[in-house]
Amino acid sequence: MTVIRVPKIFGLPPLALKASNTLLRLSELDYAISSLFSDRSKALEVLSKLWIEVEEKLPVSFKAAHDILAQKFPHQISRIYAEKISQIATEEGIRKFLLKMRRDVQSVLIPPLKKSLRGTKGPTFLVKYRRKQKCSFVLKWTNQDEIACNVIYEAFATNFMQEKHLNPRSGFFVPEIGCLDFERSIHEMPNREQTNLSSEMCIKFKRNFQRITEIYASKIASKGVLILSERIGGENLFDFILTTYRELTREQKEKFFNRLGRLAMLDVVTGNLDRLVQIFTDQGEYTLQDLEANLGNVMVVWSKDKNAPFLYAIDNGIEKDLISSDLHRKKYLSFLQTHFSSRNLERMLAENMVKSIQHALDTQVDDVSTGNVVELKKQFQFFSDELYPLAYPAFLRGLEEMHFHLYENLIPSWESEKASPLKNYLKSNHPRLLAAQQERIDILKNLRRS
Ligand SMILES: Nc1ncnc2c1ncn2[C@@H]1O[C@H](COP(=O)(O)OP(=O)(O)OP(=O)(O)O)[C@@H](O)[C@H]1O
Ligand SMILES: [Mg+2]
Repeated sequence: MTVIRVPKIFGLPPLALKASNTLLRLSELDYAISSLFSDRSKALEVLSKLWIEVEEKLPVSFKAAHDILAQKFPHQISRIYAEKISQIATEEGIRKFLLKMRRDVQSVLIPPLKKSLRGTKGPTFLVKYRRKQKCSFVLKWTNQDEIACNVIYEAFATNFMQEKHLNPRSGFFVPEIGCLDFERSIHEMPNREQTNLSSEMCIKFKRNFQRITEIYASKIASKGVLILSERIGGENLFDFILTTYRELTREQKEKFFNRLGRLAMLDVVTGNLDRLVQIFTDQGEYTLQDLEANLGNVMVVWSKDKNAPFLYAIDNGIEKDLISSDLHRKKYLSFLQTHFSSRNLERMLAENMVKSIQHALDTQVDDVSTGNVVELKKQFQFFSDELYPLAYPAFLRGLEEMHFHLYENLIPSWESEKASPLKNYLKSNHPRLLAAQQERIDILKNLRRS
């Protein structure tokens, strides 16, 4: 049996704080090493010599060994451990400390944290500890909307079931997320358990993550909420198209496009306008437009022994105006009314998906600076050539299936007792979002009756 280790960062506040202290310490060390040494093997060489020096001095004189730690290590490094070094009182203490420092240095030989280059908001940081295989997660600065919207997507992905890791009928997964809401001083775990943070705890968390942000994004985080997310071990849709897509069989490709179609239908219903289907408003009516799809908001997980790629919906924010502006909400309802009354609904959406994806590829192909550009363009062309013959019909089926699934399962579940935990959560954390979702569900229900 494989034991899935949940990173400590997803634990209760004291455990999460400890994990954030470790992350900060390693980030500081990573920063010090990269600014002090031309390469990391050089750092290891210099530090190893100092460790040996401490070990040699230790049997002779505790004080001399302690002095090396306090004075001979580069200041930028000993500064990180200053408090710990000052507390060491015994020979055993020095040995333990050396072990810890060595482990830390090993952990940052490959930096444990990097800023995601794909997103434009955030900033988003990808964390992976080299020494702890399963310990990876994502940090993202955002606002409360994104958390609450993600909770809705999670419910729709699983059809309000608790077993989150079963293959969901909806065709996609959602990463587990917790958060630190600095505006309301709340810590929230992936099971939605909330704790009110003391101001001291809140300050400590904030200081840690602000500093990490400063180190890796060279800026002060200005947003009020930090998402702590399960890290999905795949590629986002853009990278997947660029690298892996070609290896799928025809059947796997069809399944993959089908799942994208399902997700796209749900996005339209919930009002998520920042993924595949592009719906635009310029104060007036909402209309389908062939704008650039956001291929960064889907993660694709595939390995050769699996049947078809799994999709994870990430960055599930629902358009801000569709939560808080009465005018936009009304206009969007009339968009839904018009389009869901049309027999051509799925065809229009599938067409829009193809065009918006093509648009994104055309725009972004020149932005890809790594790798062989000619080869990349060929790969894009290969994908583009399959958009109409292969993707379009599969999108169409996926859209139809989700449309059906909505009426058969999701809307009845939303109206049932099963949805009470979700609705209670939204009622106390984001009532306007709940009201906006209810309006859109009501429109769909009325349309089915007529
Ligand atoms: N949970 C995750 N697991 C793995 N990778 C992730 C995860 N979340 C984000 N990423 C990576 O970081 C990228 C940016 O993430 P995200 O979409 O959340 O940021 P963003 O700044 O809001 O993006 P944008 O504004 O461009 O939509 C993703 O495309 C993906 O490559
Ligand atoms: Mg995104």
